[in-house]
Amino acid sequence: MQICVLGSAAGGGFPQWNCNCENCQGVRSGRLRAQSRTQSSIAVSEDGEHWLLINASPDILTQLAACPQLQPRHGLRGTPIVGVLLMDAQIDHVAGLMMLREGCPLDLYLTQEVNEALNNHLPLLRVLEHWNGGFDTQLIPDASTSFGVDALPNLVFQRVPLTSNAPPYSPRRHRPAPGDSIGLFVTDRRSQRSVLYAPGLGEPLAQTMSFMAQADVIMVDGTFWTDDEMGKTGLGHRTARSMGHLPVSGEGGILSLLRPLKAERKVLIHINNTNPILDEDSPARKEVKNQGIEVAFDGMMIEV
Ligand code: MLT
Ligand code: MN
Ligand code: ZN
Repeated sequence: MQICVLGSAAGGGFPQWNCNCENCQGVRSGRLRAQSRTQSSIAVSEDGEHWLLINASPDILTQLAACPQLQPRHGLRGTPIVGVLLMDAQIDHVAGLMMLREGCPLDLYLTQEVNEALNNHLPLLRVLEHWNGGFDTQLIPDASTSFGVDALPNLVFQRVPLTSNAPPYSPRRHRPAPGDSIGLFVTDRRSQRSVLYAPGLGEPLAQTMSFMAQADVIMVDGTFWTDDEMGKTGLGHRTARSMGHLPVSGEGGILSLLRPLKAERKVLIHINNTNPILDEDSPARKEVKNQGIEVAFDGMMIEV
C-alpha cells in the first residue's frame, strides 16, 4: 500500500499564522533550516488510483493542489478520494470536511463518539446534509472487529485503542471516552504488511502497544518534544500530556516506547510548531535521527 503525507504539522500548522516563536519566526525569515508544514492528514491507497483520506485538515485544498494523485482524472467531475476516515473530532482533523462538500455524498468512517461530536457539539455533519445529503457515515467497530472500505478491497482496517484527549469544545474534555480518539492499523492482505497511524497518543494502553509491536511502519504522535514545551516557549501553561500528547523525549516518552519495537520505519507526525525537531540543525533532531526515527514532512510518500 502507499501512504501520502498530506500534512505533517499539528493544529495551527508550521509556521502558525499568529505565532512569533523561535521556530515560526525562524522558518518565516529563512533563518532556520526547516520546512513549513500544513495541518495533520494522510492518504492511503492500495493501487495509487483510489485514496482514502485519513483526517480532513483545514489545509485540505492546499494539500490536494500539491498532490497530483488526488486530483480529478476522469469525467467532468470526479475525485480519486473514495472516502474519509477520522481519528478524532479535533478541528485540525475535521475542518476540511467543509471543503469537501462539493463531492458529497462521500463515505465517512468515524467512531460513535466522533459522530456524536460532529452532530451535536461541532455540528458539521448536520450542516453538510444540505449538500447532496452530506456524508454517509459508517461507524468504526471496536478493535476486535476489522472493517473494510469498498473501493480498497485489499486493505483491512482496525481501530487501535489509545487514550488522548477530547477536543477543547467537548463536554468530555479531560475525561475522554474510548472513541474520542483512536489510532488506526491497516494491513495489506496481499503482502501482510501493516502500518500503524496514531497522530494523537496521550497514554499508550496495553492494546496500543500490542498493535505497535506488530506494525511494519509506525507513524506516531510527534507533537511535543517535552511536556512543558508550551510553557517554556512562553505560550501558556498547558502541558503536552494535558492536551493528550505524550512528549517525544524523556522517561516514558514516545522515543522510549519506539526503541524496543521491530518496525522497519518509525515516523514522527503531527508536529507542533514549538517542537525543536522542526529545526533540522537542532540537537533534538539529531537525537531522533540517531535513533533511526524519521520526521514526517508534507509530500512524504511511504510504501508499506
Ligand atoms: C491537538 O491535537 O491537540 C490539536 O492539534 C489542537 C488543535 O488543533 O487546536
Ligand atoms: Mn491535532
Ligand atoms: Zn510558533
